[in-house]
Amino acid sequence: MCGIIGYAGDKQAAPLLLEGLTNLEYRGYDSSGIAVLNDGDISMKKAKGRLKNLFELTGGGNALKGTTGIGHTRWATHGEPNDVNSHPHLSGSGQFAVVHNGIIENYLDIREFLIQKGYKFRSQTDTETVVQLLDYYYKGDIFEAIGKTINKLTGSYALGILSVHENGKFYAVRKDSPLVIGLGEGENFIASDIPAVLKHTRRFILPEDKDVVVVTSSSVDIFDMNRESVTREPYTVDWDIEAAAKDGYPHYMLKEIFEQPKALEQTMGTRLFGDTVRLEGEKYAKGEPNPALKAKDGFRLTERDLENLNKIFIIACGSSYHAGMIGKYFIESTCRVPVEIDLASEFRYRRPILDKHSLTVVISQSGETADTIAALREAKRLGSRTLGIVNVIGSTIAREADDVLYTFAGPEMAVATTKGYTTQVTVLQLLGLYIAEKKGTISAEKNARYLAEIAALPDVIRGILGNQTQLQQLASEYFGGDKAFFIGRGMDYALSLEGALKLKEISYVHAECYAAGELKHGTISLIEENSLVIACATGSELFDKTLSNVKEVVSRGATVIALVTKNSSGMEKEAKHVITMPAMSDETVPCAAAVALQLFAYYVAAQRGCDIDKPRNLAKAVTVE
Ligand code: M6R
Repeated sequence: MCGIIGYAGDKQAAPLLLEGLTNLEYRGYDSSGIAVLNDGDISMKKAKGRLKNLFELTGGGNALKGTTGIGHTRWATHGEPNDVNSHPHLSGSGQFAVVHNGIIENYLDIREFLIQKGYKFRSQTDTETVVQLLDYYYKGDIFEAIGKTINKLTGSYALGILSVHENGKFYAVRKDSPLVIGLGEGENFIASDIPAVLKHTRRFILPEDKDVVVVTSSSVDIFDMNRESVTREPYTVDWDIEAAAKDGYPHYMLKEIFEQPKALEQTMGTRLFGDTVRLEGEKYAKGEPNPALKAKDGFRLTERDLENLNKIFIIACGSSYHAGMIGKYFIESTCRVPVEIDLASEFRYRRPILDKHSLTVVISQSGETADTIAALREAKRLGSRTLGIVNVIGSTIAREADDVLYTFAGPEMAVATTKGYTTQVTVLQLLGLYIAEKKGTISAEKNARYLAEIAALPDVIRGILGNQTQLQQLASEYFGGDKAFFIGRGMDYALSLEGALKLKEISYVHAECYAAGELKHGTISLIEENSLVIACATGSELFDKTLSNVKEVVSRGATVIALVTKNSSGMEKEAKHVITMPAMSDETVPCAAAVALQLFAYYVAAQRGCDIDKPRNLAKAVTVE
């Protein structure tokens, strides 16, 4: 849940580390720090709070001299956010400095062990045990010390390690936490993800678990745990720098909302061909996937797979779970296969019943969400075939799932997901149509209609973005309230869940979502004069039912903003405001309607002066349980 970076080159390290951390701050922003190696000395600066504090403290990095260094931006897990608990952590002897992303589960045991050996601890963090353990095992051979240290660790880690004995060099090692190696000209990097160093290189290596990486300005050497040199193929990303920059927008979130038409075109580009969906991709079309990416994009169901398939499980967290709910409704209705959906944090402990006849679909923008990874592993352990729907190329889920369908949304920097979510919904719908067509559970006409509507989504969304004034005005009118209720039925319920999450996570308005049919079972007692209710009623089939629920809340004093489609009628008499989506099928409209809810949430948060891209207490990738 933190961001790490490392640099070895011929330039001053500190300004580059700070620049890289700017692009990693979305991963955690409680505190930050850098350590730089210079002639056998480690100099270090840390600051509580946002990265700008570290910029100020170090004069933009000019206060630390040296061309090799490591840096960190923190989302606190062990110990409050303060200067002492910030990374990097130094060993008591001052020989080593370490930055860490992940969780060391057995840190208390290690700490106890080291205290017995006379070590003293300054911080409350799990990371300090790693650096002290390195110190304890170091007998002149850093490789041996790293090996012994990681053999003792339980949990997840991506580590950057500086040693006073190794000028111009740093070490890195990972297990279950993301780490990329950026290959530059006369300089090399490590980082928690690609955008941090994209300005300097597009060539990356993804190290395997427990690879020990030795980085200098002119070399990157990788060794396995037996100290054997190993080769990991580099690959080139085709993102441009603008893709990871704000590009004139006040916030990444707004930029990413506006990127959705393009993102969806990329999602569909290699998969939707007229009235056919092809998901096999290069992976199955050309044989072996690129070993650098391990699980290259592609999914195939053979006749035999189809005969055997008896259940689909969809597992995810947060917005990805909400996308999964739309997927569940869609796949069940088009493929007539039972679909169970679970929050990853529940699935992993509920002793689920699945086997080789089930397909488990795990959805994750980052591909690094700890609960989702654990659920994926549990599904694999139980024998299920697994498919990851993932945005970040080469992330843990993309590597570990049997197959992966990338969403191809491009880098998503804002903590609140937008294009990540709509591209997930689209991949799920393409998956549903792919299976339905193979199973023969969908008519050619319906299939063609859905596909035409999905293909038209980028333009539909362009239209919504072009007409955002109404949403801005509504946000100006209602931003001062302290609570909002979202209601809907069927796919509109799934959509409402996402609308409520978007609003609450960035604006701190207490937004709750209820299935509209559940109102009378308790929630309606909360409705009073001027309660704000956002009613999602885009589906024609259940429109009248939701309209009745709207009447019920209006008669109890609520103010209703309703989201409908063009061909519905009757809502304008009840709701104070009506947002109208183009006429589309019940199944395809939620993806477009989500964009309206994203804009509403964004403008409410903007009016409230919130830190939209970095909401309090959150981080982009939740790599802890
Ligand atoms: O990277 P993932 O898709 O696995 O992340 C799952 C959730 O943490 C994520 O969707 C979260 O709910 C977002 N902040 C919502 O905007």
